[in-house]
Amino acid sequence: MKGRGAGMEGVPTASMSAGDVAPGKYAVLVQGLTRRFGDFTAVDGISFSVERGEIFGFLGANGAGKTTAIRMLCGLLAPTEGEAWVDGFPVVAAPEKIKRRIGYMSQRFGLYDDLTIQENVSFTGGIYGLSRREVTERGDLLLERLGLKDYRRRLTSSLPLGFKQRLALGCAVLHSPSVLFLDEPTGGVDPLARRQFWDLIYELADGGTTIFVTTHYMDEAEYCRRVSIMVDGRVVALDSPARLKQQTGAGTMQDVFLQVVGR
Ligand SMILES: Nc1ncnc2c1ncn2[C@@H]1O[C@H](COP(=O)(O)OP(=O)(O)OP(=O)(O)O)[C@@H](O)[C@H]1O
Ligand SMILES: [Mg+2]
Repeated sequence: MKGRGAGMEGVPTASMSAGDVAPGKYAVLVQGLTRRFGDFTAVDGISFSVERGEIFGFLGANGAGKTTAIRMLCGLLAPTEGEAWVDGFPVVAAPEKIKRRIGYMSQRFGLYDDLTIQENVSFTGGIYGLSRREVTERGDLLLERLGLKDYRRRLTSSLPLGFKQRLALGCAVLHSPSVLFLDEPTGGVDPLARRQFWDLIYELADGGTTIFVTTHYMDEAEYCRRVSIMVDGRVVALDSPARLKQQTGAGTMQDVFLQVVGR
């Protein structure tokens, strides 16, 4: 296993500055990103890059710093130190540009329970500044593909969790973002619903969307082209699932995770 910042695949070395790399080449480029809350360092100088169109798994135990890092990448939380670019734009200097180019499905259900499916779609379209026609066309297409079309008049609060998560995914991609951040999108849903959700993720990736996804399900880690593993705010491993297994001698991603996190 290679160490942090020690030439891991796709990880810029510590000596690189923004001038050395072209941020626009990557969907996500992170250099020394750090976030402290008082004396506590939640994200501790992480550096890596994500290729355009890649499915990137952002793994780590509870409290490792994943959500904090994602919130910085979405322009929702200011970094204490370091820099990051999403779709070529700097997260601190150009958060508005980033918000138009990303989709974000937060760890907590972010839609309105007291609106119907259709109302949530229309409301989200309004936030992104889409025209009524764009919302209708793209919304209809997505609701059909997500298997939600027949339920569009249903109140969101009445839906099973798997449906809610598909709706949240639909709303996150309504404006056709180039980078999609999914923070534990399948938490709590059954294996079949998780499988169907991943079919949708693959479809989006096939269409050119970059997927940046956190999960605690190691079968889902296997679906990613590369995964990083965070421990106590640091990225301690980053490679393809096959290479991580090879490097650790583990047979499954579950064992890779246990070895890396347990160390
Ligand atoms: N606003 C905040 N103020 C103080 N501490 C915070 C704040 N936000 C997060 N933390 C702390 O930072 C650490 C990392 O939290 P974070 O939510 O990023 O972890 P995570 O990897 O997403 O965990 P999980 O897998 O449980 O979602 C935790 O110890 C958390 O308590
Ligand atoms: Mg989290």
